[in-house]
Amino acid sequence: MVKPGFVSLIFLLASVFLVDNEKIIPNKESCHNNNTIYIDSVHVMPSLSPAKCLDISTVNIKSERLKKFKILINTLIANDIGLTKFPARFLKNFPNLKHINMSMNKLSFLPGDLDQYVPNLKLINLTGNKLKVAKRRPLTKSKSLEVLILSKNKLRKLNSQLFNGLPSLRVLYLDGNFLTSLKVHPFRKLHHLEVLHLGGNQLESIPIRALNKVSERIRVIYKNNSKNLHLH
Ligand SMILES: *[C@@H]1O[C@H](CO)[C@@H](O)[C@H](O)[C@H]1NC(C)=O
Ligand SMILES: *[C@@H]1O[C@H](CO)[C@@H](O)[C@H](O)[C@H]1NC(C)=O
Ligand SMILES: *[C@@H]1O[C@H](CO)[C@@H](O)[C@H](O)[C@H]1NC(C)=O
Ligand SMILES: *[C@@H]1O[C@H](CO)[C@@H](O)[C@H](O)[C@H]1NC(C)=O
Repeated sequence: MVKPGFVSLIFLLASVFLVDNEKIIPNKESCHNNNTIYIDSVHVMPSLSPAKCLDISTVNIKSERLKKFKILINTLIANDIGLTKFPARFLKNFPNLKHINMSMNKLSFLPGDLDQYVPNLKLINLTGNKLKVAKRRPLTKSKSLEVLILSKNKLRKLNSQLFNGLPSLRVLYLDGNFLTSLKVHPFRKLHHLEVLHLGGNQLESIPIRALNKVSERIRVIYKNNSKNLHLH
């Protein structure tokens, strides 16, 4: 006979897992073969097809297969699936994640320490979210992140520490936001920055000379600003 306590533990575990699943895939009914990544067919992953859903429903969390999968997965595609909260705990399942494409969601904040959840992250595409900047706090911390795409978010003011937790950043997209000034020198600590996209903002000036001191290789792309720019 099975003890009732054991049964309710199983039930609890199952419901925790389901709740997590719900958050990741809020509009599961619109998932079909063409736009779904199945967690056990690893080769679909790096193809960056316009997939919307990550289907983990066929995997038993205790299965040996998932172990193999955890090692192999390096790209997660989760565009336009209505995420309102960064699924940090879920991502912890994939310690080898290098690329995350989470564009067109509704994220307004990132967790303070991405290293804790995705220690090998190299690229994250957060185009078309609702990210805002908190006062005097770095956006997040990641030693490995090289490409950060924050195009078309709700960024108005950058604080001076915003990118201090991202020492490996090479490419930064800030185009299509509402930036008016870079006076606080938010890029000071980005010594490996090579490409900085600033187009489609409301900047009046860009401190090119200050930026050259930050990184010798930097290329600043500032086309399509709504105002006439001063470069100094
Ligand atoms: C899946 O893709 C194929 C080929 O592009 C297409 O013919 C089919 O209609 C698609 N199915 C759905 C449900 O979108
Ligand atoms: C992200 O997804 C979009 C839409 O599916 C695609 O156009 C884009 O190439 C992807 N980019 C990255 C870096 O994953
Ligand atoms: C990021 O995602 C957007 C929207 O899905 C896409 O248009 C863009 O090409 C992606 N950026 C890169 C550098 O892949
Ligand atoms: C310029 O930026 C605006 C606002 O981001 C955008 O709507 C427009 O399509 C851009 N134009 C070009 C030519 O990139």
